[in-house]
Amino acid sequence: MSKIIVRKSEPLMGNISCSGSKNAALPILASTILTAGVSTLYNIPNLTDINYMLSILENLGAKCSFSKNCAKIDFTNCNSFYADIDSMSKFRGSFFLAAPLLSRMGRARISMPGGCPIGSRPIDLHLKGFSAMGAEIENGHGFVDLSCKKLQGARIYLDFPSVGATENLIMAAVLADGETVIENAAAEPEIVDLAEFLNKQGAQISGMGSDTVTIQGVSSLTPTDYTIISDRIEAGTFMSAFAITGGKGTITGINPLHLKPVTAKLAEMGAIILENESSISIDATKPLSASSIKTLPFPGFPTDMQAQFSALLCETKGTGIIVETVFENRFLHIGELNRMGANIRIDGRSSVIEGERLLTGAKVTAFDLRGGASLALAGLAAKGETEITGSEHIERGYEDLCGKLSSIGGNIFLA
Ligand code: UD1
Repeated sequence: MSKIIVRKSEPLMGNISCSGSKNAALPILASTILTAGVSTLYNIPNLTDINYMLSILENLGAKCSFSKNCAKIDFTNCNSFYADIDSMSKFRGSFFLAAPLLSRMGRARISMPGGCPIGSRPIDLHLKGFSAMGAEIENGHGFVDLSCKKLQGARIYLDFPSVGATENLIMAAVLADGETVIENAAAEPEIVDLAEFLNKQGAQISGMGSDTVTIQGVSSLTPTDYTIISDRIEAGTFMSAFAITGGKGTITGINPLHLKPVTAKLAEMGAIILENESSISIDATKPLSASSIKTLPFPGFPTDMQAQFSALLCETKGTGIIVETVFENRFLHIGELNRMGANIRIDGRSSVIEGERLLTGAKVTAFDLRGGASLALAGLAAKGETEITGSEHIERGYEDLCGKLSSIGGNIFLA
């Protein structure tokens, strides 16, 4: 297992750039199955999850190349309705293959998805939507078989605005017969990005970014090139890194509108935030105050930033409270932060975080992606040395986190 070593760092200072968004890239890569021809995608982050996805696409018959953050996917031929179950079960994003395979091949065998252990993460909303569109569903041992000659447009109400279900159902509807309306849809920027990529190829999707998405089925898509959005969660993690060390700097290559819930919270805590068209500056050189946070679907505070703010609130003045409403088991990092001297109590879905703790370096474990990032942030502020095992979780979602944080003064490296 690889490790990350972090030592107490001076306040971080300088410019840091964002990579492409993992959560936009994964469904967009999967959606290339819908298009016979070559799709060229720019700003794809070089991450383990992306490499899993590319190897699965190759398994299905695509010719893929990936270099300098540009992926070319030639899906002239798609030869199979299922991919290697072992690689699919390694990450959550594999379930994005369900809709495009079903649409193109009339069948899909999909492994029950893996990914971070942050909750039970059922797929019932995806399946209910496919069923409303005419798919037959059979459960196997560890996989689901879907079949349908031709998907039919339908009106689908999601019980919860699930990001993945909204994306899968958009992909299912693009080449279906007739109109599909997804109500109580999720509105995350990554969903808008997927819809814009599909529309650039000739799909007819409207309402993305709102709670009602309407898709008029079309007969085929025309291959295109596309630049995916930058990663708002990576940007938010960098903002937290500046904040936890009392630093000051600029995050470049990011749409500030995607970060509103995070920048608003940091401003409320006392940071000075300046937004430009594609960058955000933060000055956290004056001490920050604690805050109350509730995670919610976009445009609420992102659950993917909860762990990083848990670390930050250990250092701010006063007592912070975080209520995690999206996932039922997303506090695995709390025990590890407490090992570093934090005083955090968990009560159901809430955590109460005592501020102004003198964190000290310790041997800790990353159990999931964002929880791992929170330990790296805590390590930058903690006295002495922190050793994080399980850093492969962090590498699933951050492109060269250590290198990027080092470039602005962080004392952090892969061991
Ligand atoms: C995506 C993101 C993840 C982020 C999450 C919420 C990707 C690859 N991952 O995950 O980083 O934390 O959105 O912003 O884009 N649910 C059901 N039934 C379903 C589907 C979801 O009950 O069929 C529940 C989940 O258990 C969870 C909640 O809905 O409690 C939100 O999940 P969802 O929005 O689907 O998250 P993902 O798409 O898995």
